[in-house]
Amino acid sequence: MEKRVYIKTYGCQMNERESESLEAILGNCGYEMVNDEHSADIILLNTCSVREQAEAKAIGKSNLIARGKNREKLIGIVGCMAQNLGENLYKKSPPTRLIVGPNRIEKIPEYLDQLIRDKDRRITDIETGPIDRQFVAAHNEKKVKASMFVSIMQGCNMRCAYCIVPKTRGPEQYRLMEDIIDEIRLLAERGAKEVTLLGQIVNHYGANRMPSMDGKSPFVQLLEKIQRIDGICRIRFMSPHPNGFKSDLIESYGKLSKLCPHVHLPLQSGSDKILRAMKRSYQCEQFLSIVTALRERIPTISISTDIIVGFPGETEEDFQRTCAIFDHIKFDMAFIFKYSIRPETAAEQLGDRIPQEVKEARNQILLQRVEYYSRQYNESMVGMVKKVLVEAPAKHGEGRLEGYTPEHKKAIFAGTEDLIGQIVDIRIKSHTTSTLLGKIIE
Ligand code: SAH
Ligand code: SF4
Ligand code: F3S
Repeated sequence: MEKRVYIKTYGCQMNERESESLEAILGNCGYEMVNDEHSADIILLNTCSVREQAEAKAIGKSNLIARGKNREKLIGIVGCMAQNLGENLYKKSPPTRLIVGPNRIEKIPEYLDQLIRDKDRRITDIETGPIDRQFVAAHNEKKVKASMFVSIMQGCNMRCAYCIVPKTRGPEQYRLMEDIIDEIRLLAERGAKEVTLLGQIVNHYGANRMPSMDGKSPFVQLLEKIQRIDGICRIRFMSPHPNGFKSDLIESYGKLSKLCPHVHLPLQSGSDKILRAMKRSYQCEQFLSIVTALRERIPTISISTDIIVGFPGETEEDFQRTCAIFDHIKFDMAFIFKYSIRPETAAEQLGDRIPQEVKEARNQILLQRVEYYSRQYNESMVGMVKKVLVEAPAKHGEGRLEGYTPEHKKAIFAGTEDLIGQIVDIRIKSHTTSTLLGKIIE
C-alpha cells in the first residue's frame, strides 16, 4: 500500500490546528500528504461532536468514501467524535479501521504503520493523557503562512449544560509558556506575522496553576511576552469566556499594540434565566460591562459572539431578551446555532423541547440582525485606510487579493501575488455584507 494521506477536517480551529500538526508528523514518518481523497490511500476524518449534525456529516462522509473504487482505502476517524462514540463508530461506519481521540493524535503514524502491515486489524485509542509537547508545536515548515494558529491549552473545566467538549477534550491542561513562546518565535522566523492563540476558554490559560504577577493573569503575561516577539505584528485569540475577562485583560487593549481590536466573546443567550440554565455562570449585565469597558478603550473594536437558540425552556420572552442585547451591543459578526441535544451533558435530561420550526425562525431573525449590523460596521469603515495582512489570492476575480484588517474584516483589492504575507495600506471604497472592497495606497 502506498502512503498517500488525505485529511478532512471538521469542527473548530483547534481541530484545524491539530490536523496541521498531524500533517507535519506524518510527513516526518514517510507519509505523503495529498489534497484530494481520490488520490489518497489513507483518508483521515478529523471530526467534531458539538452538534448532532456535525457527527452525522462525518459518518455520512466515511460511508460514502468507502463505496465503489474507494473500497481499498484505509479510513480513520479521529478527533472529538472518535472520543465521544469510541468503538460504537465501527457499527455506524463499518469501513473505518482506526479510531483515535483528540488526545492521542500523535500516535497516528505508528498506528497507520501497523494497519498497513496487518490488513485485518482495527485500532482504537481514546485514552486521555498529558499534552504531547512536541506534537502540539509541530508545523510543516513549508506551510507556515502569514497567519497561524497556536494552541495554548487543551480541554475545558467548565460544565456548560449543553456542551460536549469537556467530555471529548477532558479537563484543562496548559502548555508551558516557554514552549508557546519558542513555537511563536520559530513561526515568526519562518514568516508568520499574525498568531491566533487557541483554547476552549483561552483566557483561563494557566488558571490556578501559574501565578498572577502584578495583578496580571498568566494569559495576560503570555500576551505581553508575545508582544515582544520580533516579526509578530498581530495577536488574536479564541475563544475567551466572559468570566475570565477581567480588568487586566481589558486594559491590555490599547496598551499592547499588537493585540488586534477584535474580540470574539460568546454570549450564548441574552436571558439571565437561560444563562443560568445553561450554567454559564455570568449574567448579561456582566457581559455588557465587559463590552462597555472594551469600547471605552477602543471605540471601534469589533465584537462578535456565539448564540444558541432553542435551548430547552427558552420562551419567546427569553428570545426577545437575546434580540434586545443583540441590538444594544450590535455584534458585527455572530455564529447562531440551533440547540442540539448532546449525550451525557447536563441539559440532556431537559429534553429537546423547542420545536424545530421555532428554532429555525429564531435562527433566521438573529441571522438578519447579524447581517444588518455587519453591514453597518462595514459601512462605517468606508473611506478609512486600514492595514491589511494579505493572505491569499481572492477566490473570485483575477488579479485580486484578500486579507484581513486588524478588526478581522475581510478586505479584497487588486494586487500582485508577491504581496501575500505582507501588510499593506488599503483605502476602503465600498463593502458587501461580509467583505470590504478597497484599493492599495501606493
Ligand atoms: N469553548 C468555546 C465554544 C466551543 S463550542 C466557548 O465556550 O466559547 C462553539 C460553540 O458551539 C459554542 O459557543 C456554542 O454556541 C455552540 N454549541 C455548543 N454546544 C452546542 C449544542 N449542544 N447545541 C448548539 N450549539 C452548541
Ligand atoms: Fe463548552 Fe462551555 Fe467549555 Fe465552551 S466553556 S467548551 S461552551 S463547556
Ligand atoms: Fe467540535 Fe471538538 Fe472543536 S466537539 S467544536 S471539534 S473541540
